[in-house]
Amino acid sequence: MSLDRLTPLIRRRSVVAKHLAEPGPDDEILQRILATGVRVPDHGKLGPWRLQVLGKPAQVELGDVFADVYADVHPDAREDQVAFERARPTRAPVLIVVSSRLHREHKIPEVEQLLSCGAVCQNLLNAATLVGFGAQWLTEWPAYDDRIKHALGIQADQHIVGFIYIGTPVEPPKERTRPEFAAVVNMLDELPGLSH
Ligand SMILES: Cc1cc2nc3c(=O)[nH]c(=O)nc-3n(C[C@H](O)[C@H](O)[C@H](O)COP(=O)(O)O)c2cc1C
Repeated sequence: MSLDRLTPLIRRRSVVAKHLAEPGPDDEILQRILATGVRVPDHGKLGPWRLQVLGKPAQVELGDVFADVYADVHPDAREDQVAFERARPTRAPVLIVVSSRLHREHKIPEVEQLLSCGAVCQNLLNAATLVGFGAQWLTEWPAYDDRIKHALGIQADQHIVGFIYIGTPVEPPKERTRPEFAAVVNMLDELPGLSH
């Protein structure tokens, strides 16, 4: 057993999407990242997630939709703001849209199905990290807009769980303040809710 194997994950940092440049993963690596992504716990074998890998033309189309919706919602938006929205989904070489495909009224609670979707996103980040790329999991406003969902063919009653951006970091990310370990992890011999 080697604890060193955990080093890339214990040091993992998201790399902000605008700092993710070419080259992205080639097809073979991308397929492996995707296969790792969907290797998640999935109560009831429901496969309650969908992954859409947007090639550059699809990213550009999505950017046009972002810009149109943004301009519609913000009629006073400046040109540079609309241009920023147009560029948003093209920031990195690879964009993966992870959405839910929740089974309603199923004995497996929806929250568990959503958690499985979240696990897909984290697996994608970890897989990208382990093969040497940078990645970021974002939602931003487009994840919560029905017109964006419609353009992507995602039903309004499902969730865009994450836009996963992957590419080569232009610079190493700086460390980020983390919650104090002891404040979030407790080793218990006795249950705190019971009086002893
Ligand atoms: C579900 C989810 C949605 C997120 N959406 C955003 C977002 O819209 N904008 C943003 O700046 N960070 C967002 N983040 C945070 C980043 O993905 C990331 O956690 C943050 O940049 C810190 O990176 P690290 O702790 O992985 O190093 C989101 C995180 C999660 C889990």
